[in-house]
Amino acid sequence: MKKDFDRVLISKEQIAARVKELAATLDRDYAGKKPLFICILKGSVMFFADLLREMTIDCEMDFMSISSYGGASKSSGEVQLIKDLDHSISGKDVVIVEDIIDSGNTLSYLKRLLLSRDPASVKIITLLDKPERRTVNLSSDYVGFVIEDEFVVGYGLDYDQAYRTEKEIYVLSRSVYEK
Ligand code: PRP
Repeated sequence: MKKDFDRVLISKEQIAARVKELAATLDRDYAGKKPLFICILKGSVMFFADLLREMTIDCEMDFMSISSYGGASKSSGEVQLIKDLDHSISGKDVVIVEDIIDSGNTLSYLKRLLLSRDPASVKIITLLDKPERRTVNLSSDYVGFVIEDEFVVGYGLDYDQAYRTEKEIYVLSRSVYEK
């Protein structure tokens, strides 16, 4: 393990097992439909790919890029739309795929935006949820793991763009972001 990390929080085996369970739940809940999964770049890219690979029903995918953090380790509360969807979501069953919900600002903004576009439904799935940090009233329909308020990286999650390609989810050492 790299010296930048305190410990493994969620192993790759735990991630894979939970992703399988979530995919099976979504397969059941969306049976007979063709949901549109929206990947919120860049943090959710690993989760998105693994989740959709495990699903057996027909799905569509699109990508959106939103930023609320910039280079900072805490949300500024401002949300910026960097890349919009390529296609209309009118009449579609939309599932927003996130890596983590922290303050809830990003998803609260995004859910409002997507609901204004006349979809059949909008649900949220997040791999990680940090309910302690919530500043807005926002809950996820599907959650992989509820975690404590610790700085986590790996499996798509970054600190200043680093560590996204790590296979496990680690707690980042304080010395890395407090220097
Ligand atoms: C992260 C994460 C969520 C958001 C959650 O994105 O992917 O989108 O922050 O925080 P919030 O609940 O406080 O709004 P980030 O802006 O770091 O971009 P990234 O996915 O490219 O890492």
